[in-house]
Amino acid sequence: MDTMTALTTLSLGGALDTAIRRYRAANPISEGLQARAAEVMPGGNTRSVLFYPPFPLYMASGAGCRLRDVDGHDYLDALGEFTAGLFGHSDPVIRRAIDAALDRGLNLSSHTPGEAALAHEIRRRFPAMELLRFANSGTEANLLALAAATTHTGRRKVMVFEGAYHGGVLTFGAGSASVNVPHEFVRVAYNDLAAARDAVRRHGPELAAILVEPMLGSGGCIPGTPEFLHGLRALADECGALLVLDEVMTSRLSIGGRQALLGLAPDLTTLGKYFGGGMSIGVFGGRAELIARFDPRRADALGHAGTFNNNVLTMAAGLAGLTDVLTEPALTAVNQRGERLRERLNALFAERCVALQASGLGSLMTLHASDRPLRCAADLAGIDPRVKELIFFDLLERGIWMARRGFMALSLPFGDAQVDELVAAMADVVDARRELLPGRRS
Ligand SMILES: Cc1ncc(COP(=O)(O)O)c(C=O)c1O
Repeated sequence: MDTMTALTTLSLGGALDTAIRRYRAANPISEGLQARAAEVMPGGNTRSVLFYPPFPLYMASGAGCRLRDVDGHDYLDALGEFTAGLFGHSDPVIRRAIDAALDRGLNLSSHTPGEAALAHEIRRRFPAMELLRFANSGTEANLLALAAATTHTGRRKVMVFEGAYHGGVLTFGAGSASVNVPHEFVRVAYNDLAAARDAVRRHGPELAAILVEPMLGSGGCIPGTPEFLHGLRALADECGALLVLDEVMTSRLSIGGRQALLGLAPDLTTLGKYFGGGMSIGVFGGRAELIARFDPRRADALGHAGTFNNNVLTMAAGLAGLTDVLTEPALTAVNQRGERLRERLNALFAERCVALQASGLGSLMTLHASDRPLRCAADLAGIDPRVKELIFFDLLERGIWMARRGFMALSLPFGDAQVDELVAAMADVVDARRELLPGRRS
């Protein structure tokens, strides 16, 4: 390490310590709640992604795209509940649908009309989901899709990609697989079609599915190239595996998801997040012959139970959200706004000569402390995590809420004025910290 780098490293650590001290002083109620929670939940946590040291913020309320924490600070919500909060915190149409569902009564121990209505609306948008079923989360949807694939093919192996995230028990980041379900996974580098081809050569006859996100979402908003994704379609056909497209995050990139943008026809698709209008949901569906195996009228039917699969709040909120709020123009606008935000952030970083970038597509993006092109998880190796951490705490002080890992997902109420607000806050942080941020390579 040269003297300059050593000095920057020292001062980066010092700046981070100071920022964390200020954070702690500003948020005593959050810290107290966290301590109380830790008495009964490990680390006070019941959802891993939300934890960051020294303690995570506790939010008290939200409206539109604004949040207020328990210590009384206000934030612009640039995180959007990791994409599930597409409608914002208080959409009046969804609110009315939930109220009406409550008026009709909860837990009716039966089918209700809402579930078929929501299923029809989803199929209208995603025609490749000829038949579909509901679950409670994206994780469940992927588990069921893999069950359908292994049962249909009679094979055990599943190709997945380094850095991918398909749910709490389907996680393929570095060193995080010990809670994964015990499928026989074949892990391949993302966007590396030659590696996928090689894996098919070695495992093809045993592959039940190729499970892929059209963009690595949690893995850093790294888009799959069209050649890669179409290439996987061809490889799946070649070896008789099913192509399972996990659009839990990317479904919002157009009214028919990224599959519509790319003209890609998966065998199975999984959805989740905002499709429940802010309530918990997962959806899996695909070619009729595959999902028909779950038809309870069949002698060889596969089971798929779940007390809350068709819960009336999710069905009502989801249907209202899709039919009355998330029109094609509304979705296009939020994605265009995301493009503009990303372009402006990247222009700012280039102009200030700092090695930062915002990667992603449409209304989804992640901040990275690197200016190298990002195509796969390995491209993120060696980046100093403290840079993003410092930016996170600095933005919090300026009233911007994003994921600790730099992830952002815009919501419908997040308008042009909010884009300006976020860019201004980022410019302020970059200017204040310029000497601590990595410089560009050229
Ligand atoms: C691509 C992808 N698949 C699956 C999931 C899991 O969804 P859930 O958190 O609803 O289980 C996520 C969650 O972030 C996701 O991003």
